[in-house]
Amino acid sequence: MGSLSPTRTMRFWLWGPRSLGVALGVFMTIGFALQLWGGPFQRRLPGVGLQLRQPWTLSQRPSPPSCPPRQRLVFLKTHKSGSSSVLNLLHRYGDRHGLRFALPARYQFGYPKPFQASRVKNYHPQDEGTPFPFHILCHHMRFNLKEVLRVMPSDSFFFSIVRDPATLAHSAFSYYKSTSSAFRKAPSLAAFLANPRAFYRLGARGDHYARNLLWFDFGLPFPPDMKTARRNPHLFRDSNTLQQHVPPAGVNPPAHTLEPNAFFHPVPTVANGHRQASSPDSLDQWSSSLIQWGLAWLDSVFDLVLVAEYFDESLVLLADALCWGLDDVVGFMHNAQAGGQRALGALREGRVTEEEQQLAARARAWNNLDWALYVHFNRSLWTRIEQYGQSRLESAVAELRARREALAKHCLLGGEALDPKYITDHRFRPFQFGSAKVLGYILRSGLSPDDQEECERLVTPELQYKDKLDAKQFPPTVSLPVQASRLLSP
Ligand SMILES: *[C@@H]1O[C@H](CO)[C@@H](O)[C@H](O)[C@H]1NC(C)=O
Repeated sequence: MGSLSPTRTMRFWLWGPRSLGVALGVFMTIGFALQLWGGPFQRRLPGVGLQLRQPWTLSQRPSPPSCPPRQRLVFLKTHKSGSSSVLNLLHRYGDRHGLRFALPARYQFGYPKPFQASRVKNYHPQDEGTPFPFHILCHHMRFNLKEVLRVMPSDSFFFSIVRDPATLAHSAFSYYKSTSSAFRKAPSLAAFLANPRAFYRLGARGDHYARNLLWFDFGLPFPPDMKTARRNPHLFRDSNTLQQHVPPAGVNPPAHTLEPNAFFHPVPTVANGHRQASSPDSLDQWSSSLIQWGLAWLDSVFDLVLVAEYFDESLVLLADALCWGLDDVVGFMHNAQAGGQRALGALREGRVTEEEQQLAARARAWNNLDWALYVHFNRSLWTRIEQYGQSRLESAVAELRARREALAKHCLLGGEALDPKYITDHRFRPFQFGSAKVLGYILRSGLSPDDQEECERLVTPELQYKDKLDAKQFPPTVSLPVQASRLLSP
């Protein structure tokens, strides 16, 4: 991933210099406001810290951070890659600091259609010179930069998360078993991956869940043979847009050391358009330059991409990049399926059977675009880790884990995630979907009011939290006093 300045330059270059002034103005206003209200903004975890035996030292850094915390954020919430846990920390941070979220009417922004600004509740086209009304955009969408920039300033912090397609496939298969017709027809993931083309049809219901889901969520265009006319983004529709998306000359896609075949497996071409390549070789070339281009483009747009397999390392880098405290990024796993973590741990530690290894290889080959994406962002993450300092990172990660453990002991009944059958309080029961159980949390009783509030934030599942933020931002109109309702009609 490039340094920050080319990223920003690129975004301005793409979407016009006009936004530069606006963005700068907004940024300065926020910085100023932060200095004014620095006191309340710095309030962290009231009560909890006092009751812990080991004081949490990192949040009481000797000198205050020299950078203002970033509070304009765009998080692309990818599917089945640990993004719900990131959502929880964004919800908490925004809630605690009174930030405004760009919210969908329900829980997603018209997914799987590309994001449209008009899907944001209370969205109004932006007047020149007025500050953008929202701080955080983070709910499920298929990424669409042009429309996102109608809602969020271009100097927002853009980030996302990716996961190894080998483990993502397990999670997607059990979660979307009945949603994706390809998965529904397959008796097991192994059977599906042994011969995906026996089950998978382009354009069938939920086909995007069954192949290259990350690539799809990032809104990138697909090679000709993987196109679904219905859902392909409009990037290549006309030459103007194409030019806008070609990386500038200075952006050299990093060379990949992966064997080229891993990127693209030649498959019988579908005769579906004028852009169709004639031979497998030129198709290969077309696809691999498309991949290179896609990755370079993402590098120019996203400031940071977290990696689910190195979640805690990613969180430390996130806190650092946002100039947040470690406390702000500590949280519990959300939307985890029962049994999911075991598989992940085993794969990471190399404790896998030959059969599982074969499954992983097949999942990565079938999801070749996602694999390219994953390898690329894994590499970027580790470059950043080196820049941050390996040992400095290790101690921050250890601190983060200790803090999480302390919070779990303090807040949670049993200290860990539980089967949803035990969770009777509807405020904390996670939405159940797919064929595996989605785990959740129960709070210990007898917490002090302040701790109760913070612990509730930590365990509130994403849908309930969205509803809570929604109610806070859009109080029910029936209870409006007369004066306020007059304000609403100009
Ligand atoms: C991710 O990067 C780490 C560190 O370089 C490496 O050990 C690991 O194998 C990488 N994972 C993949 C799937 O490339």
